[in-house]
Amino acid sequence: MARILLTGGAGYIGSHTYVALRAAGYEVTILDDFSNSDPGVIDRLVRLTGDEVDLVRGSVLYPTAVQAALSRGIDGVVHFAARKAVGESVAKPLDYFETNISGLIALMQEMKAAGVMRIVFSSTATVYGEPEVFPLTEDMPLSHTSPYAFTKVTCERVLEQAARADDWAVGVLRYFNPVGAHPSALIGEDPRGVPDNLMPYIAKVAMGELSRLQVHGNDYDTPDGTCWRDYIHVMDLARAHVQSLDALMEGRGHVLNIGTGTPVSVLEMHGAYQAVVGRELPHVIGPRRPGDVPRLYADPTKAREVLGFDAEFGLEDMCRSSWDWVQAQAAGWRFNS
Ligand code: WQD
Repeated sequence: MARILLTGGAGYIGSHTYVALRAAGYEVTILDDFSNSDPGVIDRLVRLTGDEVDLVRGSVLYPTAVQAALSRGIDGVVHFAARKAVGESVAKPLDYFETNISGLIALMQEMKAAGVMRIVFSSTATVYGEPEVFPLTEDMPLSHTSPYAFTKVTCERVLEQAARADDWAVGVLRYFNPVGAHPSALIGEDPRGVPDNLMPYIAKVAMGELSRLQVHGNDYDTPDGTCWRDYIHVMDLARAHVQSLDALMEGRGHVLNIGTGTPVSVLEMHGAYQAVVGRELPHVIGPRRPGDVPRLYADPTKAREVLGFDAEFGLEDMCRSSWDWVQAQAAGWRFNS
């Protein structure tokens, strides 16, 4: 069976994709420098899969580490390793350009030298900027509202041009809002510090680590006044990566939205999480957060047509798996690994 290299494979999306690829029969190698992930996840991947994890510790910016990973006999790469915090990118744009843009090019140079020409790229719905037409389709214009988004738009352009110039097989997956955790509660989203993102913030309120959710504005042009987003269960997102690789192994490149097509508001997410926890989770309405757009949700048609992909998990599954995960984390298995 083919062997896939996951750069950033110890991270949130990467670790769930690791499990999905192994279940699909792929061999997998992880390259990760643990700059934004917990080394303990490796032991939990061993527990989940019942097999050792082939790990190379290092950054995509280190040629020797990338060469060591590619020497495993790699048939394709899923490139997760990147910086991904919008706010941080405003404060440290050069760090984001170096890791995200130079990192992709450094990786592709080593891939080309090793004759590995299949790559799935972790992109984001943020490349649509501040859209005014919904739902979002892949042919819509790209723009950036942050240095982070600029790096993702630029990387998509690099991949597009590389595929025109050489025989690269490229899969670009534009994630909407990944949430939730593996049903085992052994892997999940593990943000450092106070989370920027909605679900992990609500999870910390539910755990009593944060006092209340502040809703960033309720005067938007949506039914309940709070922003609409297209939340997708990380298990669905992981499966989309398997289907993307299957297509690349047949030489079928693609650029696809990976979302459910169903918008959910902040208050709806809060209500769904509260229902799963079974008690009130305090929240207040605060001012708008700079940079937020009122609506962001996918037209998932193309992923269905090209990959046969459809999201299967609903909002309650997303909330329940998140709640199970944060409780398991707090129960200390993380320190036992
Ligand atoms: C969702 C909604 C907030 C926290 C970001 C990045 C995107 C991608 C996913 C990397 C918004 C509201 C949030 C809170 C709130 N990251 N909210 N109170 O902004 O859609 O996307 O994460 O690829 O690039 O931009 O996700 O979860 O931060 O916010 O009211 O404490 O929840 O205002 O409307 P977002 P989010």
